[in-house]
Amino acid sequence: MKIDIEQLSLTYQARKLKEDDIQSIYQLYQGNPLYFQYCPPSASKAMVSEDMHALPEGKTEKDKYFAGFYDQQKLIAVMDLIADYPDMGTVFIGFFMLAEDRQGNGAGSALVNELCTYLKNIGAVRIQLAWVKGNPQAEHFWLKNGFMKVKETASNAADCVILAEKKLNGDGAL
Ligand SMILES: CC(C)(COP(=O)(O)OP(=O)(O)OC[C@H]1O[C@@H](n2cnc3c(N)ncnc32)[C@H](O)[C@@H]1OP(=O)(O)O)[C@@H](O)C(=O)NCCC(=O)NCCS
Repeated sequence: MKIDIEQLSLTYQARKLKEDDIQSIYQLYQGNPLYFQYCPPSASKAMVSEDMHALPEGKTEKDKYFAGFYDQQKLIAVMDLIADYPDMGTVFIGFFMLAEDRQGNGAGSALVNELCTYLKNIGAVRIQLAWVKGNPQAEHFWLKNGFMKVKETASNAADCVILAEKKLNGDGAL
């Protein structure tokens, strides 16, 4: 599956993030200490660089989409997508974070909604993701956006994460 990052949002300008963007991504990370409390260590530029290139086993750079969403020139969200992972037709959200000053107004949900619409249109079957067990903000957000818990498992990020998914092809998927 090929994802066109620029089509991910009609509201914001979306583009692939590059090394030059590390400083602005780092600033966005720094506004979200709760996330790093559950996913230590705390934010650093080295971590941004690592996230920019991180891949699950068996996947290559061509499957990875590390996207930034801009309102005018301001980076307001970062989203990491892995196409066809863990299987064909599934898109895995490896990371999603909104700038702190944009949170609490439905912007995160609206972006996820746009993502679902786009992925459904290009034939994706489902979206999967994981949050660290106990992170109240992440859990509330993903359940509110129609993701269903699949199982508890371990990941690189934490000993216990909740794997969740949203099917895009069923009735009422969006
Ligand atoms: C998760 C995130 C993307 C949500 O963005 P957002 O624009 O604030 O999302 P929305 O406004 O659409 O919805 C946020 C919901 O979470 C709730 N929420 C916010 N902080 C919360 C907290 N600490 N505990 C429980 N719920 C919380 C809000 O009340 C709201 O729910 P409601 O509409 O039922 O009241 C954003 O908070 C973020 O970037 N967090 C840090 C990174 C992160 O945790 N990403 C997900 C990791 S898997």
